[in-house]
Amino acid sequence: MCGIFGQIAAGAVSNTVKALKYLEYRGYDSAGLALRRGDCLEMYKTEGRIATLERIVDGIDEATVAIGHTRWATHGAVSTANAHPFLSEDGNFAIVHNGIIENYRELKALLPQVKFTSQTDSETVAHLLRQNYRGDVLQTVLTTARMLKGSFAIAVLSVYGDKLYAVRNKSPLVVGFSSNGAYLCSDIRCISHWATSVAVAPDNAVAEIGKNGAKFFRLDGTPVDVKFFAPPRAEETESFEGDFMLKEIFEIPAKLRQAKRNYVERGGLSLDADTVRRLKRIYLIGCGTAYHSGLAVAAVARKFIDADVIPVVASEFIYDNYPVDGDTLAFLISQSGETADTVRAAERVTESGGLTYAVTNTDSSSLTFKCDNCVNICADGEFAVASTKAYNCQIAVLTMLFADIALLRGTLSAKKHNAIFREIDGLPFAVEQILDESYRIAQLAEEVAHSSAVFFIGRTTDYPTACEGSLKLKEISYIHSEAYPAGELKHGTLALMERSVTVVAISTDPALRDKMISSVNEVTSRGARVIAFAPYAMEGVDTFELPPTGELLYAATACVPLQLLAYYAAKSLGRDVDKPRHLAKSVTVE
Ligand code: AGP
Ligand code: GLU
Repeated sequence: MCGIFGQIAAGAVSNTVKALKYLEYRGYDSAGLALRRGDCLEMYKTEGRIATLERIVDGIDEATVAIGHTRWATHGAVSTANAHPFLSEDGNFAIVHNGIIENYRELKALLPQVKFTSQTDSETVAHLLRQNYRGDVLQTVLTTARMLKGSFAIAVLSVYGDKLYAVRNKSPLVVGFSSNGAYLCSDIRCISHWATSVAVAPDNAVAEIGKNGAKFFRLDGTPVDVKFFAPPRAEETESFEGDFMLKEIFEIPAKLRQAKRNYVERGGLSLDADTVRRLKRIYLIGCGTAYHSGLAVAAVARKFIDADVIPVVASEFIYDNYPVDGDTLAFLISQSGETADTVRAAERVTESGGLTYAVTNTDSSSLTFKCDNCVNICADGEFAVASTKAYNCQIAVLTMLFADIALLRGTLSAKKHNAIFREIDGLPFAVEQILDESYRIAQLAEEVAHSSAVFFIGRTTDYPTACEGSLKLKEISYIHSEAYPAGELKHGTLALMERSVTVVAISTDPALRDKMISSVNEVTSRGARVIAFAPYAMEGVDTFELPPTGELLYAATACVPLQLLAYYAAKSLGRDVDKPRHLAKSVTVE
């Protein structure tokens, strides 16, 4: 997803470019910035990479206030004209926007005299500001904000006065300060490179930001108090030369240890026994990889929990009639904590009287503020768009949460509960063994890279691993791929099997090995190539041997060779593995 940044401090242009680079991992297609020089606003923007913008603004050092933007197009093609910022026609206001102005067509109809320069929804805001200006910038911004519907984090720079303004509804926005100046940003990790004190802007609010302080207002103009705090430590990402995705895969063992340690040291499940015993249904809600981690743990939790355990895609949960009441607990799973669908799902659970529990990698994110409880998966910064280490940590933390729930509900013995926690201690060693064999995965990836399609198949607890393996391959190699319950192939999809197709079979349950071998024979007899990942030999199949782990925890390790498979296949095809086309690290629009 895109990002916005703004600062009131010396070096505003070079710092804004640096901030946009920190935001690159979120995914974007164009970039730009606006600055104030004397009584004039200047705007520079480009389609494509931030490095191009950097060359354009090289040497502009005297500006002390600027706003910047990385765009992920929702309205209007990827082009320089549609890149942000946008200026009002008189040049007195500049804006950048993350999100969607849902009523922009109606608003454009209020501006018949304006010659629009873009196809975007965002440009409307710049022209409304000019139309609403009566001499007071704060009132102008409040009047304009009241006219907007949708999701937005907007930064406003004007020629009037020396303040920046920001408007927030649903899209993430953080305001911060240091002794050097004031900052605003979409991303708390990014702003923490400069700010020593930050605050998360409330929804439906306007921030008036001066060099030494900020005020927040509801849209009716009433002031609202906002708590400032010290931000999480910034992680230097500039110096890293390689691919973040590979770096983050190789961090998995260390982050699994960190996730377990943090979970235990912070006291584990933060729900009281009466609440836990009363639960009738438990949702696991997320998007993409986060959803797959919920799918994986749901398949395992059903083995030792007597409540209904239901994994649901967040964008479905919001609009479908999934039952929620006081006996409902929802785990909202999100690496970024900013995924609009997941944040909205949390709001729906709360509105319906349910309990919410954020499982996230980002403290002080929108999700953590929306949920009754929160646990950090401690995977540390994940900068590749394709999520890897967060997935493994989500599975480990969710497994511990469910083990704690089952212990309180009496459906898991203390002995088995302790065994699960011990097995989690063993996961890093199993992953390290797989990483030691990464050269073999690279060899297998050469063949996968030239397949016309790749099907990932598994049964019960292996099917979620198939889903995650397929998503990883698709999103960074652009090879068509699907995940299938292995037993389902014969009901139609077998028709697609031929020599150019590769099937990746995941099998970790010895009781289902023979069934998996049957599924494999169905596809090899129709010409497809099969690669199997299993902790045991599978006769007649090229098998990558998985190190043994606890029967409930294979999902946290069996995905690692698939993450590597996707990485090496994408590299073989010359893809940009950290910033794949069309994708965003955090999708902050519904
Ligand atoms: C993961 O590889 C994808 N980039 C994407 O599916 C991601 O998992 C999804 O957008 C959810 O993101 P979140 O965990 O930050 O909510
Ligand atoms: N909707 C705006 C556009 O398409 C902003 C998209 C974004 O969040 O980057 O330009």
